[in-house]
Amino acid sequence: MDDLRNKYLGQIRDASDEDALEQVRLAAVGKKGEVALQMRELGRMTPEERQEAGPRLNALKDEINSAIAARKAGLEDAALDERLRSEWLDVTLPARARRQGTIHPVSQVTEEVTAIFADMGFAVAEGPQIETDWYVFDALNIPGHHPARAEMDTFYMAESAGTDEAGNPFVMRTHTSPVQIRSMEKTGAPTRMICPGRVYRADYDQTHTPMFHQVEGMAIDRDISMANLKWCLEEFCRAFFDVDGIELRFRASHFPFTEPSAEVDIRCSWEGGTLKLGEGDDWLEILGSGMMHPKVLQAGGIDPEEWQGFAFGMGIDRIAMLKYGIPDLRAFFDSDLRWLKHYGFGALRAPTRHAG
Ligand code: PHE
Repeated sequence: MDDLRNKYLGQIRDASDEDALEQVRLAAVGKKGEVALQMRELGRMTPEERQEAGPRLNALKDEINSAIAARKAGLEDAALDERLRSEWLDVTLPARARRQGTIHPVSQVTEEVTAIFADMGFAVAEGPQIETDWYVFDALNIPGHHPARAEMDTFYMAESAGTDEAGNPFVMRTHTSPVQIRSMEKTGAPTRMICPGRVYRADYDQTHTPMFHQVEGMAIDRDISMANLKWCLEEFCRAFFDVDGIELRFRASHFPFTEPSAEVDIRCSWEGGTLKLGEGDDWLEILGSGMMHPKVLQAGGIDPEEWQGFAFGMGIDRIAMLKYGIPDLRAFFDSDLRWLKHYGFGALRAPTRHAG
């Protein structure tokens, strides 16, 4: 038995890799290994001999097994060390240009919009994309019978999605305006926020996709007026489009959640099939806006006798197309690598207003 012991412990020590070690294990303590053969001999022994040899064989088996386990752990550690040595990689090296990803125009423009409004003291808010119809409609002065609900082409969640505690069913938000209410609930007045995010409408053609992006803006204070709204939006457009002579047109409009309301168009020309901003006789709508309706302030828990606010909602995809001359909205969401390469922005070269 001592011979067996010395033979196998030696072989275990000398095994150079896990395969070799497995061979040793099979030869020693496998089902047909030498120790198993010895165990079979026990049947032929006298009871006295067996009582002596049995425990010794078992102890030998245990000893060999634990030597194998220890050697195995050592070999694994060595293999890992070797891998760490050979697969070493300098993560500070620049990426290979061929494989470089790009920043999607929507991400880029969201970043630019955020930076400009942050400079004007607006915080960035977020809200859920699956929202209750109370936040999307009722709280925004759009009651159940209001035609605006039908006009919105709302995606309703399946009935099995249930309701909130108050029994309001869930919808995909059709605009970012519900975040006005959520922000008022959270911060009270005075407050200033923007909320960029995804919105959903059951609409699909050349200029509409069922998912698109808006940025909501809201400012509430004791003496906010339409003049503040106008200044803010003009200031934003000047900074964002960065074109001399940008001209905006405020056109009277109607939204249930603002009074008075205005849509804002930007002057442009389409000569020769290319779009130019700040010249020509065409106007392109970029946003809806107005003074917050007293009922909306109330729904957000703010006293309209004491506070006023303005709000606006702007199409992010729309202003991205305008600024960067991208003709087709649907291509934004096709995940076509050639498109992304052409219209995307290099991660380190993207224009930005944030200080470095
Ligand atoms: N929510 C409106 C829309 O989606 C835009 C809007 C926002 C208008 C805020 C006025 C005030 O069309």
